Amino acid sequence: MTKKTFQAPRGTRDLLPDDQVYFDYLNSTFKNVVKAAGFRQITTPAFEDTNLFVRGVGKETDVVDKEMYSFVDKSNNSLTLRPEGTAPIVRSYLENGMQAWPQPVKLYYTMSMYRYDRPQAGRYREFWQYGLEMIGDKDPFADVMVISTAYRFYQKLGLADHITLQLNSIGCQKCRPKYIKELTSFYKENEKKICNNCKSRVESNPLRLLDCKEAKCQALIEEAPQVINFLCTECHDHFKKVLELLDEINVTYEINPRLVRGLDYYTRTVFEFWTDRDGSQNALCGGGRYDNLVENFGGKSTPALGFAGGTDRTIEFIKSHPEIEILESRKVDIFVVQLGNEARKNCLKLLSSFWDEEVAAEGGLDKEGISGQLSHANRLQAKYALIIGQKEAYDQTVIIKEMASGNQETYPLDKIVKEIKKRLK
Ligand code: HAM
Repeated sequence: MTKKTFQAPRGTRDLLPDDQVYFDYLNSTFKNVVKAAGFRQITTPAFEDTNLFVRGVGKETDVVDKEMYSFVDKSNNSLTLRPEGTAPIVRSYLENGMQAWPQPVKLYYTMSMYRYDRPQAGRYREFWQYGLEMIGDKDPFADVMVISTAYRFYQKLGLADHITLQLNSIGCQKCRPKYIKELTSFYKENEKKICNNCKSRVESNPLRLLDCKEAKCQALIEEAPQVINFLCTECHDHFKKVLELLDEINVTYEINPRLVRGLDYYTRTVFEFWTDRDGSQNALCGGGRYDNLVENFGGKSTPALGFAGGTDRTIEFIKSHPEIEILESRKVDIFVVQLGNEARKNCLKLLSSFWDEEVAAEGGLDKEGISGQLSHANRLQAKYALIIGQKEAYDQTVIIKEMASGNQETYPLDKIVKEIKKRLK
């Protein structure tokens, strides 16, 4: 009887070494950009108290209502695998006394997230986000700093020409209720024209009506009242300043009055970066202000904002642009080829010397002949093969073979590490 084989759970996948090259490249580019802007790294637990997300993200959102991986542990605590990073980071801000740190507190993260979503290209149940949060700054400068940091990151990835910044303001606790009232009555008047999902959203989460992808709802969305026309003076001035500052630094944007985001904590500025590819998974990142969340979690009133991007989705987008080069595609710099017992010993010593110097080196320590080892070096895309045959082992020398040109020369063994480091520079 054949034994059952196992598969990764639906919506998850293995990140194989070739995928990892992209993940490392994206994460290190992100880290370089955000560290230069003064953000420091935070990692929160993979699971949290379920109520953190219910209260923070909102009971009526898809994320909380349909997508959470929740479980009860052996002590009867209800816990949830984090579906997003903002609520946990605000929890950590309060729990670790960060209100007493110099404000704003600027944090970044690269973490896995879990949502029971319908898997498709660019959408997984376990996925990764790169993101940042800036807590304790109410000024429109902060909005522009966060948005332009995201933009700079996409520029560094070579994606700037293929994305657009979508921008909106959804007001505050003062002005939004008036808009919601208007929106709700508009939808009630048109109830016959909308899908069943939207019928329940009219009461539970009216802002999400503007996000419906059903064809029959799309036409109505065009006619619906726009939140931007209901902003109070403070929200209006804040948004105007954000636009002016973006103009100032030449970051172009599209004002999108339908952009509302799927999580309940947002106030004022919301934004997403969209790709120029068709399809529903075209948001590389999303974010905005959440000026009430710290207070909602029991802290004193503290303005905050941030964004998070989908690592998997961004990588898929990079891959769809083959002209974008990933720097670390060469896997090893050096491959040491050896023949005979003495040569094997030298090979091992030489590899250790390279590794001490953090030069990526591998060697043919098995019994394969020279041509087998050289073709292995080729497969690994090594830049140089260093060949130690019986004669070289006796002379304490090594042959340097440049793999691209095939050029060879003999070099003293004790000087080879220094020489190779020089050439690799
Ligand atoms: P979000 O829009 O829910 O925002 O997620 C941010 C990004 O994560 C999306 O734009 C998308 O690229 C990626 N993403 C979301 N769901 C999936 C999925 N199932 N598979 C693959 N990628 C996905 C947030 O999470 C907020 N916490 C962002 C934020 C930070 N707002 C303020 N600070």
